[in-house]
Amino acid sequence: MTVALMNTNGPALVIGATGYIGRFVADACLDSGNTTYVLVTPGGKCPMRAATIEALREKGAIIIEGRVNGKEFIEQKLKEYGIEVVISVIGGHNILDQLPLIEAVKSVATVKRFLPSEFGHDIDKANPVEPGLTFYIEKRRVRRAIEAAGIPYTYICCNSIAGWPYFNNTHPSEVPPPLDHFQIYGDGNVRAYFVAGYDIGKLTIRAAYDPRASNKTVHFRPASNLVSLNEMASLWENKIGRNLPRTTLSEADLLSMAAENILPESIVASLTHDIFINGCQTNFNIDGHDEIEIGDLYPEVALRTINECFDDYITDLKVKENLEESLKEGVPAAMVERLPVPASCA
Ligand SMILES: NC(=O)c1ccc[n+]([C@@H]2O[C@H](COP(=O)([O-])OP(=O)(O)OC[C@H]3O[C@@H](n4cnc5c(N)ncnc54)[C@H](OP(=O)(O)O)[C@@H]3O)[C@@H](O)[C@H]2O)c1
Repeated sequence: MTVALMNTNGPALVIGATGYIGRFVADACLDSGNTTYVLVTPGGKCPMRAATIEALREKGAIIIEGRVNGKEFIEQKLKEYGIEVVISVIGGHNILDQLPLIEAVKSVATVKRFLPSEFGHDIDKANPVEPGLTFYIEKRRVRRAIEAAGIPYTYICCNSIAGWPYFNNTHPSEVPPPLDHFQIYGDGNVRAYFVAGYDIGKLTIRAAYDPRASNKTVHFRPASNLVSLNEMASLWENKIGRNLPRTTLSEADLLSMAAENILPESIVASLTHDIFINGCQTNFNIDGHDEIEIGDLYPEVALRTINECFDDYITDLKVKENLEESLKEGVPAAMVERLPVPASCA
């Protein structure tokens, strides 16, 4: 393919937009004003997924029903809609479903940028224990297939999504930080980068349309978002106005949870070990010709801090408390004034 450094402002196809990270990406794509097609799997939808699809449609997304692993189907849609940017945000169970998608992108030869489902660590550099390793090996297979096909790519390594990093939850930021006690991994001093979902979405779209990010791994390493668990725990205690007891989950505890091989929890345990024991987000430099830091691409963009993200959780908790209080007092919920909820970090 010869489209590597071409500019584009053409239509995007987002695959996995109903998912945890995908929703941020699809919303950001729509906010950017680019024509946004969204591929959703057909069939019965749970009410929350149906509501997400409806919200995306109302915001301007063009919904296509189908599966990413149907090569001919995808080829036909890429041609029919003149898709120039393909962003896959499919979930961890389905990483290899992207192989037929890569075949389809290669065969139409008009896609100017492909972003595979990464959205975590640099999977060529990090080496977690199993079962995280198998998950990374699948993501590496996808990278190698893209490179072998000569498809212009951007690999988004956004590190951790902002929120308390529960060791057994694939979507940790959907749950507020602890209100009873903290579980601290190791000595709690290893730092990691926590980036708000909103910023992951926004900066992913900027990079997807930015020729400087073509054939690059883009690392999200904002200095303002580099914190340890001990620092996060203290920050949260300040917000809730009380100290919480702390227990330690040792390296051995995390390794034994990983070894249980209960999916997906054991994958999260193995990645938690890699982040908070091995320091996988900070133990390498970004100096390759094919990698770049997000702050070097967009120095003018201020990312939401953990402090601001924790304020969002406090706002949500206050809203819930007010509702519960009013229900106890018999006030209809509709009469409770809702606090304004800022762009959520969840
Ligand atoms: N940095 C972090 O903290 C972090 C946290 C979590 C995940 N991640 C990464 O983010 C990426 C997305 O994970 P996620 O947890 O957001 O995923 P998720 O919530 O499980 O959502 C998966 C999405 O993929 C879609 N999908 C799956 N198979 C499909 C297929 N064959 N055809 C079309 N669509 C398909 C699903 O659509 P349907 O619902 O219609 O099936 C859904 O929208 C992964 O690479 C994961 O490793 C990063």
